[in-house]
Amino acid sequence: MLATNLRSLSRPDYNTANVIELEQTDRLHYLHTKVRDKTANKRQFTFYADQIIRLLLEKSLERLNFEGLNVTTPVGETYEGKQFAKPLCGVSVVRAGESMENELRRLDLNIPIGKILIQRDPTTKLPKLYYSKLPDNVEKFHVLLFEPMLATGGSAICALDVMTKAGVKPENITFVNLLCSPEGLQKVTAQFPDVTIVTSSIEQRLNEHAFMIPGIGDFGDRYFGTT
Ligand code: PRP
Ligand code: MG
Repeated sequence: MLATNLRSLSRPDYNTANVIELEQTDRLHYLHTKVRDKTANKRQFTFYADQIIRLLLEKSLERLNFEGLNVTTPVGETYEGKQFAKPLCGVSVVRAGESMENELRRLDLNIPIGKILIQRDPTTKLPKLYYSKLPDNVEKFHVLLFEPMLATGGSAICALDVMTKAGVKPENITFVNLLCSPEGLQKVTAQFPDVTIVTSSIEQRLNEHAFMIPGIGDFGDRYFGTT
């Protein structure tokens, strides 16, 4: 059923307004070469995936709103600086999204991190929501939503539903992602056009097993070493 549906899809158009793909530099291709190689072991995979995650977080933070903050330097002068206009929190879509927490902690230890546990049924590929625990007053934050894989888009939409039902406005969400499919982007941007999506690669398409190609395999299994 799903296979037939996927095969009948041509490469879909999607709303590109808030989709930010990292600049496709040789350096980024080098990192992707490392993580996409099926012979990479867990240590190699996490080492290079963490570097892509760092680039994604830097790009996500660059695009936030800032406001003025003056500080006094040790020589008694005023430095006209900046601070985030809204407090920042992370929310991981467990399990694969938890891979982004280490790099976030390296940026700022004080940022709260919420969790949403969603698992895709291996046969139907449909997401099931099991649990969520979000920071208190989450609607006051800008949320970095961590989900490295956006394939059919089902898990992403489920996670975004949880966030918006909790009162977070879509324009206050950055969806931080390593790989996404055009099919998944079409679904997510149609339903949540105001969510910013920062990704390191828009893939060619989904295959009949709802895996992205050329792809990376099961990110969670490779990052956490469970295959
Ligand atoms: C995988 C992946 C994404 C989701 C993407 O999760 O990590 O969360 O599928 O697929 P979709 O866009 O078609 O919904 P999975 O449920 O396999 O578990 P994991 O994150 O625990 O590895
Ligand atoms: Mg997942």
